[in-house]
Amino acid sequence: MNNGYIGVVDSGVGGLDILNVLVKAFPNENFYYIGDNLNLPYGAKSKEQLEHYGITLAKYLKNNNTKMILIACNTLSLNAIHAMRMHVDIPIYGIVRPTIKGMLNDNDIKSILLIATRATINSHRYVDFLNELGPEINVYDVATPELVDYIEANKPELYNVTIKKYVDAYQDKVDGIILGCTHYPIIKDYFKKLYPHLKIFDAREQMKQLCFEKLKENNIVASANNKREIIIHATKSIIQLQNASAHFFNYQDTILKEGGISFE
Ligand code: DGL
Repeated sequence: MNNGYIGVVDSGVGGLDILNVLVKAFPNENFYYIGDNLNLPYGAKSKEQLEHYGITLAKYLKNNNTKMILIACNTLSLNAIHAMRMHVDIPIYGIVRPTIKGMLNDNDIKSILLIATRATINSHRYVDFLNELGPEINVYDVATPELVDYIEANKPELYNVTIKKYVDAYQDKVDGIILGCTHYPIIKDYFKKLYPHLKIFDAREQMKQLCFEKLKENNIVASANNKREIIIHATKSIIQLQNASAHFFNYQDTILKEGGISFE
């Protein structure tokens, strides 16, 4: 038994979508969410910068009674998970492998479009994982950089035009799209409406499964009578996080925090 927090990290609002699912699935667990909107967008940052952010956040979480970290950010998972694990000795898991494994459960996928941030695409590691786990699948990978900014700023009028700009050219070449950035599933319905003939993959269900497995494997499940606590911490502006998520995240019963993490 361990009533420490499950840490969930992202650069901003994207990971709240995952937190939503976890909070419902694990009613006894304490959660500590960090939205690092001080350093947003991660997709425009170098590997060194991302490692530095990741290590800083992991150390902070560990010092604040966190028992396990789920990185709800593809960019951070691909660029910083090894550095985070080297510096902080609590279990830390990323979002990329679970997403791919979820997609591979669908045997009809022969050709896929991966859309993600620039740092994710440029790292080439997502495609490496895809080739390793599903070698027979043909992969197109495209960076869609503005989408994160529009989702953070809650600008729905720009979603369709931006999605079409990047995806239209591939819609007849693929069987599905991987939303390889945690911000994108928040606007999944836009993808579904534009491309009803394509399957759209994200990591919500897989992160739930991962969390379940890793709590058990590490023997750190919370006690059944734990009166749970949910903390949402924005490294810069909690209002910005709330504004961008008001339409899908319910802040009832959450403790809000802002600033106070030094990245010096
Ligand atoms: N949500 C993040 C991801 O999954 C990154 C967004 C950003 O800060 O660029 O990659």
